[in-house]
Amino acid sequence: MAGSYKVAVIPGDGTGPEVVAEGLKVLEAAAQRFGFTVSQTPYDFGGDRYLRTGETLPPSAITELQGFDAIYLGAIGHPDVRPGILEKGILLALRFALDQYINLRPVKLYPNVDCPLKDKGPEDIDFVVVRENTEGLYCGAGGFLKKGTADEVAIQESINTRKGVERCLRYAFDYTRRRAKRNTLTLCGKTNVLTFAFDLWERTFREVGERDYPDIRREYAHVDATCMWMVKNPEWFDVIVTDNMFGDIITDLGAMIQGGMGIAAGGNINPEGVSMFEPIGGSAPKYTGQGVINPLAAIAAVQMMLDTLGEREAARTVEEGIVHAVGQLKSLSAGKMGFSTSEVGDMVAQHVAG
Ligand code: IPM
Ligand code: MN
Repeated sequence: MAGSYKVAVIPGDGTGPEVVAEGLKVLEAAAQRFGFTVSQTPYDFGGDRYLRTGETLPPSAITELQGFDAIYLGAIGHPDVRPGILEKGILLALRFALDQYINLRPVKLYPNVDCPLKDKGPEDIDFVVVRENTEGLYCGAGGFLKKGTADEVAIQESINTRKGVERCLRYAFDYTRRRAKRNTLTLCGKTNVLTFAFDLWERTFREVGERDYPDIRREYAHVDATCMWMVKNPEWFDVIVTDNMFGDIITDLGAMIQGGMGIAAGGNINPEGVSMFEPIGGSAPKYTGQGVINPLAAIAAVQMMLDTLGEREAARTVEEGIVHAVGQLKSLSAGKMGFSTSEVGDMVAQHVAG
């Protein structure tokens, strides 16, 4: 029986709506071609709604969203809203409440894409970062003491639970096995300084790996060294697993070596629940409404969504469409593509339509 999927769409702020429109165009083309159906339900969460109503997420949001097969998100972030409010109140709130404990971020350089690394090509840059997505420094644990005085203390704690670490590591091991590329999983940490948090990570990595994944080679790299190798020898990596904060940082570096924010997508995954897919660049206020933003990252998010929904062939075809479009674009950067946002969306959609 053909699949039928309920997708919640949160276009969000800035260029979010523009890129989401192109992603949905491609999703529709894939549905037509591969014979599944998609029903879309829009949600207006974002900066404008917050400025209008003072509310980030309405109380009903989480229960409603739990009823969908997937969530498609554009971007969250508004120049008129103080940093942190929308990020915490919407993006992180959704990740946490929906227990999307994995942030999956592929780093893949496509042919014909300008790479800032000298002498590196598509055969060298193809790895995936599995970022823990619900714990670590992102928990919001900590506080101030004597705020605003000369004796002020600010504490921000990283929370790492055995359960949270282990489920993330297991996902990464399974993913490495399924990917079947080099069967190598690298734990990225900082065991030489963060001797509590990464002791737990390292021990769990070894225990789980030895017991249940003897076929997967285990490697370890400190986060600073990981940054170095990502630039110097990105071909060494197959799958990297790391905590929330390090994962945030190294995936921006990853996005740059794969051609920039115009192409980088991620999935906030709850393997047992509802997952949310997004381009990882921000809301890009300065490009808003001009039709010059690159929609390929948002289209790549659709590819990841289809893959997670089990529409593997459709996902592969969307990726082919992206590769096709990349070959036509002058640059992946906003305003320099040589095409408008919707022309790029059409290019991929037509390719997917066959
Ligand atoms: C990301 C973003 C978010 C994060 C921000 C907007 C809260 O940078 O998705 O990587 O830090 O996770
Ligand atoms: Mn980030």
